[in-house]
Amino acid sequence: MSTERTSVLFVCLGNICRSPMARWVMIDLARDRGVLQRLDIDSCGTGDWHSGEPADPRSATCAARNGLKTDHVARQFARDDGERFEYILVMDRSNQRDVLAMGAPKHKVRLLRSFDPLLIDAHERELEVPDPYYGGEQGFEQMYQMIRRACNGLLDTLPLR
Ligand code: 4NP
Repeated sequence: MSTERTSVLFVCLGNICRSPMARWVMIDLARDRGVLQRLDIDSCGTGDWHSGEPADPRSATCAARNGLKTDHVARQFARDDGERFEYILVMDRSNQRDVLAMGAPKHKVRLLRSFDPLLIDAHERELEVPDPYYGGEQGFEQMYQMIRRACNGLLDTLPLR
């Protein structure tokens, strides 16, 4: 097997709610499938307000309730992420705009939910993971479910070396 791993970067705005959850879910699913060692999985935000902070406790609580390990230190997207990562998976269209403006190569950037097999015919606006930051607990569980379906679809299609 090649020692070079397939690299995946999840991106949201603050890097404390959605993209940390996507990373935790992806690690969990990849471990279940026995392919974790073939992946390099990270997350970041387009904004820097929360850099250095742990995840939002509502995200961490939701993830822990679903059996996930919730280690996290927030960081902002860096220009070399665009070179380093092969798949740059954004949560919404504003993340997509921002990350492209910050230098991510267009061919690497995709909305995460475009990998949800149930959304194969959906319009772009239906492929967003809504920002749960200003909402209630329920929004976090819905976010988790959306991310889990999309990450399963992503793992079905990712070429693993
Ligand atoms: P995230 O959620 O992008 O899913 O991490 C947010 C977290 C913080 C803020 C916005 C969204 N904020 O404005 O501080």
